Amino acid sequence: MGVLQTKGVEAPAVLDELATYATGDVDWRSGKVLTGLYDPGEGAHGLAVEAYTRFLAQNALYINMYPSVGKLERDIVESIAELLRGEQAAAGNITSGGTESILMAVKASRDWAREHRPEVTAPEMVLPVTAHPAFIKAAHYLGLHTVVTPVDTDGFRADIDAFRRALGPNTILAVGSAPNFSHGTIDGIDEMAPLARDNGTLFHVDGCVGGIHLSVMRRMGEPVADFDFSVDGVTTISADLHKYGYAPKNASVVLYRDRDLRKHAYFVCSSTTEYAVINPTAQSTRTGGPVAAAWAVLRHLGEEGLQQIVRESEAATKRMLAGIEDIDGIEVLAKPDMCMFTLGSTTINIFEVDDEMRRRGWTLLPQFACGGGPANVHVSVTQPNVAHVETFIKDLGEVVADIRRNGPAFDQRELAAAVEEVAEKPLEDILMRIAPLAGLTGPDLPERMAPLNTMLDMLPADRRDELLTAYLNMTS
Ligand SMILES: Cc1ncc(COP(=O)(O)O)c(C=O)c1O
Repeated sequence: MGVLQTKGVEAPAVLDELATYATGDVDWRSGKVLTGLYDPGEGAHGLAVEAYTRFLAQNALYINMYPSVGKLERDIVESIAELLRGEQAAAGNITSGGTESILMAVKASRDWAREHRPEVTAPEMVLPVTAHPAFIKAAHYLGLHTVVTPVDTDGFRADIDAFRRALGPNTILAVGSAPNFSHGTIDGIDEMAPLARDNGTLFHVDGCVGGIHLSVMRRMGEPVADFDFSVDGVTTISADLHKYGYAPKNASVVLYRDRDLRKHAYFVCSSTTEYAVINPTAQSTRTGGPVAAAWAVLRHLGEEGLQQIVRESEAATKRMLAGIEDIDGIEVLAKPDMCMFTLGSTTINIFEVDDEMRRRGWTLLPQFACGGGPANVHVSVTQPNVAHVETFIKDLGEVVADIRRNGPAFDQRELAAAVEEVAEKPLEDILMRIAPLAGLTGPDLPERMAPLNTMLDMLPADRRDELLTAYLNMTS
């Protein structure tokens, strides 16, 4: 049914209908969501909702009509730049999220290179395999080549020698993460950024996850490797407000070392019959809601409030890591630098752990084998999870023990044989042969995702990407 019917519906009934649409969603208030949720708790959340709705109608495109949004934005950028030790010259903007911040940093870097390194005609970006896909997407959109470098498999940090070798005459931008999302570890930014600088290459630090959290940790006196503008050679940083800044979506900050670099982020056009478009970010019309909400959350929590959240979530993570050490059959793949980690196993199918934990109300995030690491499930620990740490350890221990005792829930060899048989064949053949084995019988995802995830994990990444595109294009 389309939404637009001949007759309208009364507001209360509309809200009831909306509620029914949400019944299949994970319960984000449960404290058991361990990925993609950054809830500051009831008080701050309520404040954010209020602030968001008060600025919902303001359009940041019209800086003359709504100077308030610009003021709020400047306050936020100033504070985040200070956390990330930007000099007076640093400048930035608020975007809709990490992906847009990265897109803008890549665009600014590309256009800066066009002006300052005109001899480069086929620009390249060098990035470790742990970098977020948003960089590959930005390169795809903006016409850059990507050179992906390996990481070590103890910490999943950039292999510095390989990084050095990958820098070449066409490298206009290089990337490091603080931390990478998959394993929660920080690349050796203090080595990488100076290497990039010596190559005439700009350097982006992806602090989407850690920019705020790690800076707060550092200011609390915790040992945190330098990853921000204090490192020579760092030219842009992304730091998401809607992750460990505990602001509602969509809000992120992109920072530029100085205005000469930021200038290249702008798109301005006053040569059509339309009004003059002046965009420092990808979006044009943009509600003030997320900006006001992020401003309100930061103002309300203060640095002390953020410190308390950081202290509690770090302590919770340490307790989880210690608890996991006592569980036979599962392991943390890398010691993380902040409150996120991945679980893998050499004895059981880790995707079955994901399924069984979901049956107990937990939401984790499956990730495929890559970069020398095995298939795994990701855990991001945030403030709402703190009260549930002991239940998590208990549930995880029981789930792993059950899977070990009962054996695999499905025949992995049958799946492997089918994947091998069709891996090189056309997509339709893959779908026909594998979909039923993976539990894909219609547009809805199966309740048990392990067979599907296992099958996807077995496919080469390019075939997997094709298959996911075809499936979603068909069903959504
Ligand atoms: C390290 C990192 N960078 C960038 C992004 C992209 O952020 P967003 O989903 O807000 O676009 C993410 C998202 O998880 C991330 O973890």
